[in-house]
Amino acid sequence: QIQRTPSLPLTGRRVLVTAGGTREALDPVRYITNRSSGKMGYAVAAAARTMGAQVTLISAATHLRAPAGVQVLPVASAAELRDAVVTHFEACDLLVMAAAVSDYRPVQTNQQKIKKPQDHADLTLQLTETTDILKELATRKTHQYVVGFAAETQNLLANAQHKLTSKRLDLLVANDVSQPGVGFNGDTNQVTLLRPDQAPLTTALMSKRAVANQILTTVVAETGWQPQ
Ligand code: CTP
Ligand code: CA
Repeated sequence: QIQRTPSLPLTGRRVLVTAGGTREALDPVRYITNRSSGKMGYAVAAAARTMGAQVTLISAATHLRAPAGVQVLPVASAAELRDAVVTHFEACDLLVMAAAVSDYRPVQTNQQKIKKPQDHADLTLQLTETTDILKELATRKTHQYVVGFAAETQNLLANAQHKLTSKRLDLLVANDVSQPGVGFNGDTNQVTLLRPDQAPLTTALMSKRAVANQILTTVVAETGWQPQ
């Protein structure tokens, strides 16, 4: 008798996940970054793999080990992350944009180390906006289901609702990063899931892996995906 393995809901789906905080170089020894650990994105990648998906993880800097069975593509800056996402977007069924992408980059990156001025004058950095990758891709999606994150320190629901609509997302995962145990760095998270025309759904405070499972279960329910 043939033993069939139970079908997993993301079998046959390609999932593209971004994670970690980008680094915008000022010179060969310095960069601008943020507090992202990459843990939430890595948890989503691992959970998607466990649910049967073929997973590509575009990873900005983290200290994390690659999840088993996941293809990891390392990137540094927001521009590199954008190029990698653009390359892989067309072939994916689901994009989960968990990376903390720098909103600004230095107007110029010095080839040599920036030296202190002799007169100890103040130093002003000139920054310019980066491309909003999520917005760019969500507005040109065809069949893809697109999930974004929102890190907020105030007015969580109003700010997150605005991101959901203005970026034309299918699902937005909102974090109140001012709460203990939520968002950057820790192993736990509590999120509110927003979808167009549906009531917000707030999870318990739980492990990032459990939050990842909740996000993916919601995607499977919304899309009606069956194992392929
Ligand atoms: N994002 C992106 N490209 C950027 C900036 C953000 O793709 N240049 C994505 C993030 O990966 C995340 C979502 O947009 O999924 C929201 O990021 P967030 O920083 O919360 O929102 P912003 O739109 O950048 O607005 P603000 O930082 O002003 O709150
Ligand atoms: Ca931002």
